Order: sequence, then C-alpha cells, then structure tokens
Amino acid sequence: MANTAKEKREIGSKGLDLLQKQKLYQRVVLGRKPPETAQARQPKAPPKKKTTPVLRAFGNHIGIDLGTATTVVYVEGKGVVMREPTLVAVNRRTDQVVAMGKRARQMIGRTPEHIEVIQPIQLGVINDYEITEQLFEHIFRKVQDASPKIFSPSVIIGVPCCTSQAEINAVRDAVIDAGARRVGIVYEPFAAAVGIDLPLVGETAVMVIDIGGGTSDTMILAGGEIVASDSIRLAGDAFDKAIVEGLREKKQIIIGERTAEDLKVATMQSANEQKVFSVQGRSSSTGLPLEADVSFDEIVRFLDPCLGKIVEYVGTFVGRSSPEVQADLKNNNIYFVGGGPAIHAFPRKIEEALNLRIVVPENATGLVARGTALIAQSPEQYEKYFLS
Ligand SMILES: Nc1ncnc2c1ncn2[C@@H]1O[C@H](COP(=O)(O)OP(=O)(O)OP(=O)(O)O)[C@@H](O)[C@H]1O
Ligand SMILES: [Mg+2]
Repeated sequence: MANTAKEKREIGSKGLDLLQKQKLYQRVVLGRKPPETAQARQPKAPPKKKTTPVLRAFGNHIGIDLGTATTVVYVEGKGVVMREPTLVAVNRRTDQVVAMGKRARQMIGRTPEHIEVIQPIQLGVINDYEITEQLFEHIFRKVQDASPKIFSPSVIIGVPCCTSQAEINAVRDAVIDAGARRVGIVYEPFAAAVGIDLPLVGETAVMVIDIGGGTSDTMILAGGEIVASDSIRLAGDAFDKAIVEGLREKKQIIIGERTAEDLKVATMQSANEQKVFSVQGRSSSTGLPLEADVSFDEIVRFLDPCLGKIVEYVGTFVGRSSPEVQADLKNNNIYFVGGGPAIHAFPRKIEEALNLRIVVPENATGLVARGTALIAQSPEQYEKYFLS
C-alpha cells in the first residue's frame, strides 16, 4: 500500500521519462497492464518544444467540480465525460469500494449492515480522505476511457470559499495521491464566473452566487480581482433534511434524505403548483409502512426557513460591499448558479431582498466544471487565482 503511494508520487516526479510515467500510471493508478508492445509503438520523441514551466506542468488537463452532491468532470475537446452523484458504497469488512455514483445512490437504505453508502464530500469539503482518493482514481479511469491520450492529468478543481488551509491541502494531496501530475485549486464561484464567460478584467463589479448541495457561495469580482468572497455551509442537503423533518412532524411519516431529495426535485420540476405528491415511508408511531400525501405548497413551506437564512446571508454579504460596488451590481446582473436556482421562487426571493436583478444562466449546474476546464486550458492566465 505504502509502495503504491510512493509509486503514485513518482508519476509526478521529474526523474522519469514520459514512457516510464505512462507505464507506471497504467499499472498503479488504472490497475491495467501496460501493453507489451507499447515501447515498440512509441513514436520517436518529437523535438522538445520550448514551453513555459506552467504550461508544461499543465499538459493533459481536466476540470473537476467535486461537489457535495454531484461530481462533474470536463475534458477539453470532449465536454462532460462524467456527471454522477458524489456517493460511494464501501464494504466496511474489507474497506473496499463496491459502487460509486448512480449505482451507490440506488443502494442507499437497501444494503446489509457491513455495506455503507457514504458522501465523501460533506458541506463542500473532504469527509473521508481514502475514499475521496479512490473517487479521483475512478474519475481518472473514466477520463482515460473517454480520452486515452490523457494519463496522469493536470487537474483544476474548485473548493468552496470557506475552505480552510488544511482542507485545501487535503484536496491537493488526494488528487496527487490518486495519480495526477499537478493540481490547481480555485474558489468555486470564481470557476463559475469563468464558466459563464464573465469579463473578469472589466472595471465594474460583477457577482456570482453558487448554491449547491453543501455550501452557498458568493463572490464579487472587479478589475480582474476578487473583491469579496464568502460562503456558508447551508444549501441543498439542508433542504432535504428540512423535508424529512417536516414530514415527520406534520405527517408522522419517516423517509430517508435521498427520498426527500427525490421528492424535492420532483416537486420543483413540476410546473403544477396544485400538485399533490404521494410519499412512501415508515410510520413514526407504529414503525410500519405508511403512505402520505403532501402538496407542493407544504413542501415549499418546509423549505422556507432554510431559504430565508440563505437569502439573509446573501443580503449581509452584499450589504458589506462599498456604495460603488453596489451601484455596479445595480447595473450589472448577479449570476445565480448551482442546483439552488431550481428551487421554486428562490431567484425571485433573492431579487426582492436585494432589489437587484438575478440571472440564472443556462446549464447552471455545469458551470463550475466548465470554468475549471477553461482554466486548465490556459492556466498561466489564471495563476494568480490559484489557492496556495
Ligand atoms: N431540479 C431541482 N430542483 C431542486 N433542487 C435540485 C434540482 N436539481 C438539483 N437540485 C439540488 O441541487 C443540489 C446540487 O447542486 P449542485 O450540483 O450545484 O451541488 P454540488 O456542486 O454538488 O454541491 P456543493 O457545491 O455545495 O459542494 C442538490 O441538493 C440537489 O438536490
Ligand atoms: Mg458546487
């Protein structure tokens, strides 16, 4: 095990040539036997091009949005190669991963005791290091399947604005230990700003709100600088918990958080505000199966306290900015990304509280990943935004 970790680190070292690194990556990270003929087929090395250190370091680039709820992986020239729930099923007897993503999500609540479905990223940060490392290895395998040229990729990844230095270091180590050559870390709303194609060098201030599963992030950019950024650990997962609580209290029915999430999404996707949803769970009094009806309105009411707290947070964030920035925000739009905008009336509530115009761009849940991929394409342009 220790040897494997050492070998993985060697992939990123300067001591090996390209072919050696490729072989080591195939064997150690992807668990594949490198083809015997690889050496024979290897073309003659082209004359070395002169590149700047940062460009050389960032060859084979991919962008990852390792979200609390969803992992999105973007590869240059290929687009999104993976979009899956950030969930892993682990056999606790052997500590082996038995399923990831959608398959792991389907297993929730239906596993024997020794199999646990875990959320390796919680509230925006790594909760289980070993599993997160394996998740990155899984991602790199998927990237290789989609783009066989890419081995030991350089990775740009986003983190929430409230991430501590220790948490940032943990992300960097997990990516490198999983076999990446190099990693650049940026704040998620910054990646979203790049993903939206916002003009970063514009003199006037622009703002991004990113509400995901674990965190709600806000950032103001002006003149190519991050003027202010912040986040709170309150977002989509809290809505799910609020639905679980609301149903237990008002309907005496117990459901799991993933069922609550499905109900939340189904409710928000329904254009019919009169609709009534049927929920299946367990009676809180008898412990036996129970079915209950819950209306669109009731679900929206369960979410209201959480929505209120996030709206208040965004208001306080904007309220701390200068009159100049506030005037700019009045003229420019505020961009609202992540899963949050899908919640009924959420953009309108923020608009009313701030008296500022909110725009929800297309593909609102894919913009952090798109931004990370764009950054990976020209890392030298974004170096000053990398977190150290
Ligand atoms: N149609 C929808 N209606 C309501 N909520 C939705 C919808 N689609 C997704 N969500 C919610 O959005 C959240 C996921 O958003 P997103 O993918 O932006 O989060 P993330 O990037 O994984 O998390 P974070 O950035 O906080 O780490 C989840 O809570 C999910 O239930
Ligand atoms: Mg996110």
